[in-house]
Amino acid sequence: MSQAKGNDVMDKVVSLCKRKGFIFQSSEIYGGLNGCWDYGPLGVELLRNIKETWWRAMTYRQDMEGIDASILMHPRVWEASGHVEGFNDPMVEDRETRERFRLDHLLEDNGVDPTGMDMEEMTAKMEELELKSPKGNELTPPRRFNLMFKTHVGPVEDAASVTYLRPETAQGIFVNFLNVQQAMRRKLPFGIAQIGKSFRNEINTKNFLFRTREFEQMEMQYFVRPGEDEKWFEYWREQRLNWFIEALGIPATRLRWHEHVGAELAHYAKAAFDIQYEFPFGWGEIKGVHNRGQFDLGRHEEFSGKQLKYFDDQSREKVLPAVIETAIGATRSSMMCLVNAYAEEEVRGEQRVVMRFHPRLAPIKAAILPLVKRDGMPELAREVEAGLRTEFPVFYDEGGAIGRRYRRMDEVGTPFCLTVDSQTLEDRTVTVRERDSMEQDRVAIEALAGELRQRMTSWAPP
Ligand code: GAP
Repeated sequence: MSQAKGNDVMDKVVSLCKRKGFIFQSSEIYGGLNGCWDYGPLGVELLRNIKETWWRAMTYRQDMEGIDASILMHPRVWEASGHVEGFNDPMVEDRETRERFRLDHLLEDNGVDPTGMDMEEMTAKMEELELKSPKGNELTPPRRFNLMFKTHVGPVEDAASVTYLRPETAQGIFVNFLNVQQAMRRKLPFGIAQIGKSFRNEINTKNFLFRTREFEQMEMQYFVRPGEDEKWFEYWREQRLNWFIEALGIPATRLRWHEHVGAELAHYAKAAFDIQYEFPFGWGEIKGVHNRGQFDLGRHEEFSGKQLKYFDDQSREKVLPAVIETAIGATRSSMMCLVNAYAEEEVRGEQRVVMRFHPRLAPIKAAILPLVKRDGMPELAREVEAGLRTEFPVFYDEGGAIGRRYRRMDEVGTPFCLTVDSQTLEDRTVTVRERDSMEQDRVAIEALAGELRQRMTSWAPP
């Protein structure tokens, strides 16, 4: 088996995604909209499976609640959160073409690591290097560009009606902290989890689904007694790394920690670590684990004028909880899973492309294939399909040679192919072909659902 690597892997994955119905460019027939992508029939299943896996791990716990807050929020939320003032990237413009670039990305492309540099340091570096645009033209001096999408609430487009599409889901949780705590009669420590869309007007979108303008996040805020934050920070760091390996089947060797230091540390964070995945274009952040201290609840108290303190019946006093946050991109994770699954290998002199998804994530769990289109095999195969369809997404295919049908299923990562052949007509067993090993054995039709369920849970990366 060869894990496909190198620069061309991204091109192959992007092309497979379109060809097989995972991901399409948004508004493609109009030339596309930069930084926006549509999930096709297989992509939407993959994304839903990732979100479901996360939701189960995070909310099926005794110390967690889920919510779904609105995307549009009161504009004061974004003042309190610091996004109006501080959520910006350094932008430069090509003086000839008017194209805009992120200065930190241009520095990176020119061999400078901008991690931890502030605006002044980046400007100095740009001057020292006499940095030009990728087209070789002069650049404007850098300026800050706020990444929030502005919009108006109601029919009058004036300053009073301005609000923003949320750039993170976290604030919907902070403003609901007391609602959830009181409604669910929660005691510290407890967490609130949420999955939802976020929007950032990124200066440059990059690398397919990695940096987009519309994306989905899965965030969790864990409210703890001040003073206990460091203990819980360590707990959540360990928890979340294991989830990638055990629940998503990502090899530990392609994951690493990156600690934020100096200017890299966000305005709200006491401490922050990213989990990075090794993409074909290099290491990239997938998830952040942040110790946000009392920053958020403190700021919302200040800006809203409402008390957000919690009455701690252990210490008999009111406390403002500290917050540990885990923040992961669902859409960025879907790209990690696509890239991670992609493999090429040679089988009997022919190339096979196989998506080795964890079966839990695979869009189609099983394909049902009558060996030939006669002798009652299609009818029996339809019966197998009907028996499984209520539990799993399955796919019926009777077109073409069996080998070709297996390859088509390998390419979309279907873990099992169930073939109805002449023996099935005699003893009601089908062959079960496993995607990774390509080995086959026979299973009774009546036992199929249980057998597939069991094989899916005991799956390990090959
Ligand atoms: N509440 C904290 C927060 O939003 P973040 O590091 O800015 O932290 C968390 O975002 C995660 O959201 C990232 O690790 C990444 O997976 C995802 N994400 C952020 N910006 C993104 C973008 N433009 N496109 C796709 N995913 C993005």
